[in-house]
Amino acid sequence: MFSFLRRKRGKKALDYQPISNKSKTFSFKKEEALELLDLIKQEFGLDYAKQEYITIKKLETFAKSNSIDNYKELTLRYKTQKDIKIELINLLTVNETYFFREILQVEAFLQIAKNKQNFSVLSAPCATGEEVYSIAIKLKEELGGKRYDITGIDINSQALEKAQKGKYLSRSISRVPQALLQKYFTQKANVYTVNKYLLNDIIWKHQNVFAKDFKKLGKFDYLFSRNMLIYFNDEEKKRVIGQFYDILKSDGYLFLGHADLSFVPNGFEVYNLGLNIYKKV
Ligand SMILES: C[S@@+](CC[C@H](N)C(=O)[O-])C[C@H]1O[C@@H](n2cnc3c(N)ncnc32)[C@H](O)[C@@H]1O
Repeated sequence: MFSFLRRKRGKKALDYQPISNKSKTFSFKKEEALELLDLIKQEFGLDYAKQEYITIKKLETFAKSNSIDNYKELTLRYKTQKDIKIELINLLTVNETYFFREILQVEAFLQIAKNKQNFSVLSAPCATGEEVYSIAIKLKEELGGKRYDITGIDINSQALEKAQKGKYLSRSISRVPQALLQKYFTQKANVYTVNKYLLNDIIWKHQNVFAKDFKKLGKFDYLFSRNMLIYFNDEEKKRVIGQFYDILKSDGYLFLGHADLSFVPNGFEVYNLGLNIYKKV
């Protein structure tokens, strides 16, 4: 269908000459792609400046697979069609994660949480669920007598679906100790399924951390936000930190990934710098 699309000779890699067949004209202009990426950045914080070429190629492939001829139409569909927006965000987000990632930080969290009887934990973002289940397993093991809930949010709907199913391949669970693997998972061939009762304490939600309704999630004692802020620029990191500040209770803690911030977040003090733990002040 698109075989007659040609690159303009001597032009920048992503400028395509509009070429018509009897029924369609195709025109993918880089500046229009950048306008769409800017909209995505404003709404979701995702900053693609460092991966511009590959991201625009993804947009183009996405547009073609939806029979969209140009980025202006793609932008219009992004603004007006929720399913197109969701699919596009699914395509552009990176969901890499695994069980028991940054486990020393989770151990430190248990030490902090053991002083409370009831508490709530937010994982923002949870991607495909491994972080949430790792926290749930450690809580069951070490603070089983407490009352708590864990909420996992993400903007990638496919990742959330996978989280809810709780089915993982061996690569994902390679750091889970054997005894815990046997206790909390059911293995069939090379698929490990999280045992259902772990789900009792977990809530999943499709949610953007920048959205106005973020605060409707409630108030949390502990907030894990690992390996998402790295995709945002400093201005957006600060915007999200503001959202995190508001959603945390007055004595709340924030747990970040080691590459997420290069400054102490406003409204927080350092609790453990090496483990990237901050306390709300
Ligand atoms: C690399 S994963 C991190 C998963 C997990 N926290 C970890 O550290 O292993 C990054 C996740 O951030 C999510 N994300 C990016 N921007 C977001 C936003 N504005 N709101 C909510 N989630 C977002 C992506 O969809 C992706 O699943």
